Amino acid sequence: MAEKMSRHQVDTGWYVTASVRRSQRHLVADDTDRNALYYPRSVAKVVSHPLIAGNDDVVRDVLALSLMHYLDSTVVLEQQIVNPCFLTICDDQLPVSLPAEARSRAYMYYCDEAYHALCADDLGTQVRERTGLALTKRTPGFLIDLGDALLQVSGDHLRALVELAFTIVSETLISQSLLRIPADPTVVPAVRASVADHARDEKNHHAYFARFLPVFWPLLDSRTQEALGRLFPRFIRSFLEPDRTALAFILRQYVTAEEAEIIITETYPPTVVDSDVRAAARATLNLCERTGMMRIPAIASEFERAHLVRVPHH
Ligand SMILES: [Fe+2]
Ligand SMILES: [Fe+2]
Repeated sequence: MAEKMSRHQVDTGWYVTASVRRSQRHLVADDTDRNALYYPRSVAKVVSHPLIAGNDDVVRDVLALSLMHYLDSTVVLEQQIVNPCFLTICDDQLPVSLPAEARSRAYMYYCDEAYHALCADDLGTQVRERTGLALTKRTPGFLIDLGDALLQVSGDHLRALVELAFTIVSETLISQSLLRIPADPTVVPAVRASVADHARDEKNHHAYFARFLPVFWPLLDSRTQEALGRLFPRFIRSFLEPDRTALAFILRQYVTAEEAEIIITETYPPTVVDSDVRAAARATLNLCERTGMMRIPAIASEFERAHLVRVPHH
């Protein structure tokens, strides 16, 4: 893995460019524009639904609460899934041995992710104080899905690999939040700057796992490959599908349960969700293809069943 890259070059780059090394705290209170929104309308699509679109106060609140949910989910993802996985790599605890460079980078990215969790928590606290809104912490949908997948495998080795697969998926997907928040001029500048810091680091993590997976995959035996590869489509969907439970919880503070259901169902028809998921998963899907996963029929059919690829029928 990147044998030609010397340790010295790698380290120097991270020490200079990582957000935890170079950035500063972003303060919501510095922002004076009272009309600025806390989350892009293009990501929290429910605010465009006719049942709430006309009520500016509700739209602003739903956007702020959507940001809070996103930040809470970020903290959980970084601290409970991604960083334990980097720790496994640092400690050389995976059932296959990795190149030294993969481990030294895992130490750096562990710091990155801890910093992302800190920033997400800090930003969430600031938004809560600023808006007076509060959101009960809920287990994100993706964590429930990971728990279900872990229940179906046995043995510590396989469990570590399932957590690794989950991390690889989450680190190679391009989430709409990371992409759109920094670019949206209607969003509060401190929020945009904080998420831009995160997005910049994640480009490096993406590149790391995009090199890591094709090196790592052939080291697994074929039974493990099959068991693991079949989980990828499920994990991709669980990250990219709208978190309907969380959305309903937010909306029900402003509309009835029935109206919340109508808003969510009409905003996210299955064909729209499928094409949004495929678009956001493109890089991950290309990586799976490049790694050779799709050559294993049991894995390919799982991707097809999840509407992530179209397999030609004869
Ligand atoms: Fe991160
Ligand atoms: Fe990351």
